[in-house]
Amino acid sequence: MKIAVLPGDGIGTEIIAEAVKVLKALDLKFELETAPVGGAAYEAAGHPLPESTLKLAKEADAILFGAVGDWKYDKLERALRPEQAILGLRKHLGLFANFRPAICYEQLTHASSLKPELVSGLDILIVRELTGDIYFGQPRGKRTATDGAFPGAEEAFDTMRYTRPEIERIAHVAFQAARKRNKKVTSVDKANVLETFQFWKDIVTEIGQQYPDVKLDHMYVDNAAMQLVKAPKSFDVIVTGNMFGDILSDEASMLTGSIGMLPSASLNSKNQGLYEPSHGSAPDIAGKGVANPLATILSAAMMLRFSLNQEAAAQRIEAAVQKVLAQGLRTPDIHSAGTTQVGTAQMGDAVVKALA
Ligand code: IPM
Ligand code: MG
Repeated sequence: MKIAVLPGDGIGTEIIAEAVKVLKALDLKFELETAPVGGAAYEAAGHPLPESTLKLAKEADAILFGAVGDWKYDKLERALRPEQAILGLRKHLGLFANFRPAICYEQLTHASSLKPELVSGLDILIVRELTGDIYFGQPRGKRTATDGAFPGAEEAFDTMRYTRPEIERIAHVAFQAARKRNKKVTSVDKANVLETFQFWKDIVTEIGQQYPDVKLDHMYVDNAAMQLVKAPKSFDVIVTGNMFGDILSDEASMLTGSIGMLPSASLNSKNQGLYEPSHGSAPDIAGKGVANPLATILSAAMMLRFSLNQEAAAQRIEAAVQKVLAQGLRTPDIHSAGTTQVGTAQMGDAVVKALA
């Protein structure tokens, strides 16, 4: 089993170090190989996703990814910005299925910005299509407008598009995931305005007929954004496109009050996967040893489960995380009165100890 370890920028290096610590403590046989990505790779090699990093990622069974991005790269041309690394990995490896769970941990219910009764026990899964939509649609660019309100003016444009097979395969992923959960899929679209999403809705409905045991409903994205804060527990699996999924998954993760705890997985059709925390590179707290490593440690557990076929080891890690929370250990992001504040490395050490 070969794992590509790509720490990236900001808190990426600190949180990945803790996840690697935990993986090494499992005494399974892995080959771990580290490579630079994002701003760190731009500094080292002049590109956010150097050939050598991409090659390693392609050869590996799984990728453990930290985070990329820093404000200091905002002025670089788009192709050299850190975000291009994650977009490039998604595209080159065909990582079309993105799983973003939003779980409210019992001990952290009070940390949500919503009333505890709205979020306690929350467990929803966002399945975001990750390699299509307006993120990758061509053409895109700048040109002179020939119509609209200001013909002759300078304009920028992107293209929202989905092919039938792209929608079919993500719909299957969502229905299959729902079968292992509460058997409900909410497909989020904007069919009232966009052709792309009328097509989406029609195809998801068609595929849904192959899953009569799963309840399917449809929701416009604006309403979904509202329902997520009004009655988040009414959802089970949400399936949506790349753009809407980007927005709704940030919204959903914040409901839990514990974005520092949420892992994510992006898989291709060969079950090769990229595993990363749902939070970003947080450059404001980088290097201070205060970042929460649990989302990354839990991402490593997801990696063991989905790409490396090591369910028992995945469960061991998840149980260890539960244990350290029960012990009252908290990094500053989830700290509250009556709990013990610890730093990044102490939290990682505690998880390693709890594995025993
Ligand atoms: C995410 C991020 C990325 C995205 C950025 C960093 C390109 O926001 O993974 O949600 O928009 O997909
Ligand atoms: Mg995002």
